[in-house]
Amino acid sequence: MTTLAATAAQLVGVGKGILAADESIGTMNSRLEGVGVACSAAHRGAYRALLLTTPGLSDGVSGIIYCDETLRQSLPDGRTFPTATLQCGLIPGIKVDTGAKALAGADGETVTEGLDGLRERLAEYAALGARFAKWRAVIRIDESTPSHRAIRANAHALARYAALCQEAGIVPIVEPEVLMDGVHTLGRCAIVTSVVLLEVFGELHDAGMELDGIVLKPNMVLPGKDCMDAASTDTIATTTVHTLRTVVPAEVAGIAFLSGGQGEVLATERLAAMQSLDAPWPMTFSFGRALVDPALAAWHGDPARVPDGQAALAQRVRCNSAALSGVYSPMLERESVSR
Ligand code: 13P
Repeated sequence: MTTLAATAAQLVGVGKGILAADESIGTMNSRLEGVGVACSAAHRGAYRALLLTTPGLSDGVSGIIYCDETLRQSLPDGRTFPTATLQCGLIPGIKVDTGAKALAGADGETVTEGLDGLRERLAEYAALGARFAKWRAVIRIDESTPSHRAIRANAHALARYAALCQEAGIVPIVEPEVLMDGVHTLGRCAIVTSVVLLEVFGELHDAGMELDGIVLKPNMVLPGKDCMDAASTDTIATTTVHTLRTVVPAEVAGIAFLSGGQGEVLATERLAAMQSLDAPWPMTFSFGRALVDPALAAWHGDPARVPDGQAALAQRVRCNSAALSGVYSPMLERESVSR
């Protein structure tokens, strides 16, 4: 097994998922403001330190994705985040895209940027301790979107990013997110997700990628947030796994779903329902909001409430890890968030 494949396998290892704590400075600031915490590098660092130092985190989490700022910050005890992450038994990762920018001539659609200088940045991130990376492409479903042009541009950028990562010895998390926003049906999401993934894997193939050294981070297949037709947990789970099985090569190291704005309990229930379905790769979580929102709300920026924030994160990790192991039940959600 290559080093890339070994790292990728560790990231999707049994009973574990990936914590996405890589919000950009702007996004993190608005989340802090949302719970009444002043925006500052110190508060952003304190919040990430709360997450990382949650007791027992490595029981259900394999790695944490940071943004550039956090990767360079230190904990109050002086250890850098990458060093402390490794010492906590977790793999440090880094978000390397620079965001979804308007795609010229494609009304309202975006292409994710960040390829300029990426080879040099990856070398620096590797030296700082990052062992895996993330790049998120954003696909919006509307009456007239996504256009094939936007899908192609995003898939091509994802493959160029992935190739640069593997060249640098860093495992790429390939994240083509089909957004939940909109009125589209589950069926439309399934079609768009397959078309996007087909294009992405075509590009990854052309780029000569080692598929066992890649983790795919897709959306679950869901009806749009404002769709009138609800779908059951079982329908979502079977449609998601069927869609992925049709287009994602069996060699891929694993699938780590994003939460995409689903409620935290729903995201966990859907993840749990997928585990009994036949699939050639492990399926785990790489949630952001569905893992950390309760922790952020419980913490409130108050140093005295760090244990409350950590207990809230630990509870979500326990539930999601139970989902992976086939022992999740609604009872677990009712267990008190004990400190
Ligand atoms: P959410 O789970 O909040 O969608 O975030 C995951 C992520 O990493 C988005 O890029």
